[in-house]
Amino acid sequence: MMTVSTEIELRPVPGPRGLPLLGNLPAFGKDPLSFFSSLRDEYGDAVTWSLGSRPALFVAHPAHIAELMAEVEHTFEPGDVGWTFAKVCGESILRSRGAQWRRKRAMVQPTVRPKQVRGYATTMVECAQQRGNGWREGGRIDVGREMERITQRIVSRTLFGNDLGARADVLGESLSAIEWEMGAEVRSLRLFLPPWVPSAARRRLLAELAVVDEEVGRLVRTRRQAMDRGEEREREDLLSRLLAARDGQGQRLSSKEVRDEAVTLWIAGNGTSTTALTWTWYLLARNPGARTKLTAELQRVLGDRSPSFEDYESLTYTRQVIKESLRLYPPAWVIPLRAKAGARLGGHAIRAGDAVWCSQWVTHRDPRWFTDPLAFRPERWDGESTANTSWQTWFPFGTGPRTCVGARFAQVETALVLATLARRWHLEVDPGEVVPQAVQLLQPSTPVRATVRAAAPPST
Ligand code: HEM
Repeated sequence: MMTVSTEIELRPVPGPRGLPLLGNLPAFGKDPLSFFSSLRDEYGDAVTWSLGSRPALFVAHPAHIAELMAEVEHTFEPGDVGWTFAKVCGESILRSRGAQWRRKRAMVQPTVRPKQVRGYATTMVECAQQRGNGWREGGRIDVGREMERITQRIVSRTLFGNDLGARADVLGESLSAIEWEMGAEVRSLRLFLPPWVPSAARRRLLAELAVVDEEVGRLVRTRRQAMDRGEEREREDLLSRLLAARDGQGQRLSSKEVRDEAVTLWIAGNGTSTTALTWTWYLLARNPGARTKLTAELQRVLGDRSPSFEDYESLTYTRQVIKESLRLYPPAWVIPLRAKAGARLGGHAIRAGDAVWCSQWVTHRDPRWFTDPLAFRPERWDGESTANTSWQTWFPFGTGPRTCVGARFAQVETALVLATLARRWHLEVDPGEVVPQAVQLLQPSTPVRATVRAAAPPST
């Protein structure tokens, strides 16, 4: 990978001329991926554009992205994310700012530290195994749907242990519907609808949310009461950890705050991992050389057994496959920020309230930082440990103070799920290109369908 120079001439910042009032909104709404790529290709690394009547700056150079992201919570803050998002996540870590955010971050982050993730690894493998046990040679599957079932089960069990029982699927279905509505809001630009408009989509969302609130509310109440009565020892799941967390003043999260964090962890962690795994299977099917190397590693490291957390570091190529998949198809494809105050970025003046956006999709596919950028080549990460990652050019989990709290969880989860399933099964994805669609996440625009084949003689 190439190194980055911070010396970039930025003035004057060019940009495309938009329509009166709408600015560049129509072009952005039609195809955001092409829109941002063309900004970089036609105008350069820092471009002014307009989001409706609001001026915005788009930065594509890794040096600016690093500078920008390091200043989040000081000079910049996450941009507005819409009515649906606010309803679903409440006042959680994802939606808080300033002191509130620091408090939440300090309480949520310890629940997904590497030590805790180590404890969740067994669940990750078991959930993948259970699903994979239902696959049959020659069977037809919708890869995205299968991955969703697995990640939902993982998030449900790591959050709530086995408390949900058979209700896990009911909650999962409601949360899937909610995630869909969140994506639809972005896709249709309902993002700009005033909060008081009672649209059909909003009524649908509130109905699903009522199911989620009832389920999660019941779990939080029951567990809290049991913990307060001393009938319940602290369990090894996220809910217990959230209930036990204390802030700097010794205060714990209220039941509503625990609900907000639990739903946020589900929403933030489920669709992202599902999407990452779905693209990974797609890429492996299109790149038989990489698949052969993956099979060889799985046979060498695991032989006839399923993986455990202890194998994670040894599964070097598996981790590179995931890393390369996150480069080409980053589930979070854009980071929309807003200047809290007047600022300078790479020498360019920004006014308070201006939007400043950067996109993983654009920077991850830039030939200046990645040779042959459109090729799926896990080998490009040879010799790079996760710790060595250049956060400026590869940032699927963001970077800076608000970087993804679940990054370690997600990396271990995707690698172990892939290893568990790929050891036994090969997914022969149907021919034809699957085009990505940039909604809330970078999703396949059509289902990724595959025929299941045995990768090696099944051992169980
Ligand atoms: C492949 C999977 C994932 C991807 C690509 C991803 C990506 C991201 C990105 C880009 C951000 C914003 C970072 C920034 O602004 O600098 C973020 C934030 C966040 N992610 Fe993830 N994420 C993934 C999985 C997870 C998982 C599994 C969890 C929970 C277990 C999670 C929880 C969160 C939370 C709570 C935040 C908000 C952090 C804050 O605002 O302080 N994510 N994630």
